[in-house]
Amino acid sequence: MEKAQLHLEGRTYELDVVIGTEGEKALDISKLRDQTGYITVDVGYKNTGSTYSQITFIDGEQGILRYRGYPIEQLAEFSTYLEVAYLLIYGELPTRAQLEDFEERIKARTLIHEDIKKFFDGFPSSAHPMGVLASVVCSLSSFYPESLDPYAPDEVVERNIIRLLAKVPTLIAWIYKKRMGHPYIYPRNERSYVNNFLYMMFGMPTYDYEPDPHVVDALDKLLILHADHEQNCSTSTVRTVGSSRANIYASVSAGICALWGPLHGGANQEVIEMLEMIKADGGNVQKWVEKAKDKNDPFRLMGFGHRVYKNFDPRAKIIKQAADQVLNALGIHDPVLDIAKKLEEVALSDPYFIERRLYPNVDFYSGIIYRAIGIPVEMFTVMFAFGRLAGWLAQWWEMRRANEPIVRPRQVYMGPGLRDYVPIAKRG
Ligand code: SDX
Repeated sequence: MEKAQLHLEGRTYELDVVIGTEGEKALDISKLRDQTGYITVDVGYKNTGSTYSQITFIDGEQGILRYRGYPIEQLAEFSTYLEVAYLLIYGELPTRAQLEDFEERIKARTLIHEDIKKFFDGFPSSAHPMGVLASVVCSLSSFYPESLDPYAPDEVVERNIIRLLAKVPTLIAWIYKKRMGHPYIYPRNERSYVNNFLYMMFGMPTYDYEPDPHVVDALDKLLILHADHEQNCSTSTVRTVGSSRANIYASVSAGICALWGPLHGGANQEVIEMLEMIKADGGNVQKWVEKAKDKNDPFRLMGFGHRVYKNFDPRAKIIKQAADQVLNALGIHDPVLDIAKKLEEVALSDPYFIERRLYPNVDFYSGIIYRAIGIPVEMFTVMFAFGRLAGWLAQWWEMRRANEPIVRPRQVYMGPGLRDYVPIAKRG
């Protein structure tokens, strides 16, 4: 094991160097405070690893994303979301029998308790879908008390992982139906997972509904591309909440809340709203690129930039191609897609973006497909959560099985020094 040397106050300390599977290097500082009395500080954890994980590998310089070692490009082209969910959760691609069993276990739990409808009734139809989803996912813990056991055996954890994979599509579809004032459509288990979701979203009791196969394929691909992304903000949140031994429903609900932010999963909704604004403003792309560069202007180019990817987000490349394919298949010409492509072209030739290595990220083109499918913009981030569910579940279980300690970072205190209380009468 290599060592790093740290010279502090005339003393020399040694820190273990950790090397990851792909050669990533880290300093193990787990004993730093005990050895030196010092802590490290890294606001936003831009340079700090929080765990050891075997699930997803990202190389931001090379634009590499792999789930359990499999390149995202191959999984997006050849796999299905449920097969990828199995891979993320269990660590290996399933045999046909294992996948069929996994799918059957999910089909058996696609219904939600009828009492949960009362939760939907409590929300105004204008409620943001992420707030509703976070609430009803957390409420599931009330219906499955076995999940509250902080030291539940693997079989109980696995059953609740299956419940979430099975019920979240139903919950999302019913959130949409509630917004539209339409009757809820119940799952039909003879349908495939994504087909069933679209059936519950857009079906009606008055006629049979069969989603376009191009749409099923495009959505399955989007779910795969969103399935996991190592220790991003929402996944770190799921692991953090789970580290206190809170139940899996509360942990996933917290992840949904973290993903809601416009700097994270909320960006896909912001991108479409931004593109619509540019279109309404006459399509003057250069003007908005200049605004994004102006430090005095709060406007940012949503869907651009990434904490890790500093060349390109491999998911954005795949989604851009899929957007072209699904719009052509559906015979849709979306002028907003043209604006997105022009914006990318202008930005990527601008020194501001080149110097800061800002490229389109996963959120930049995904909304074009959601829109073509007929999903309202307020539900785009819910669709991101739908895909990321598999990764959250896999990461939560990995954290639990590793018996990781409760997450409790330190800080550098910069507040007032010791001072005595002053009674209000003497405060003037
Ligand atoms: C996701 O972590 C993940 O893996 C997330 C995700 C996942 O799958 O889980 O990939 C999903 O969240 C994608 C990101 C979606 N968010 C957006 O598209 C929002 C717009 N982008 C940003 O706000 C920003 O790029 C972040 C939040 C994505 C990354 O921020 P960082 O790493 O903290 O970088 P930064 O904010 O410090 O920016 C560095 C510089 C700054 O300029 P300077 O101060 O150096 O002059 O780049 C500038 C920023 O002002 N900058 C942008 C910009 N993003 C960064 N300028 C204009 N437009 C932008 N979009």
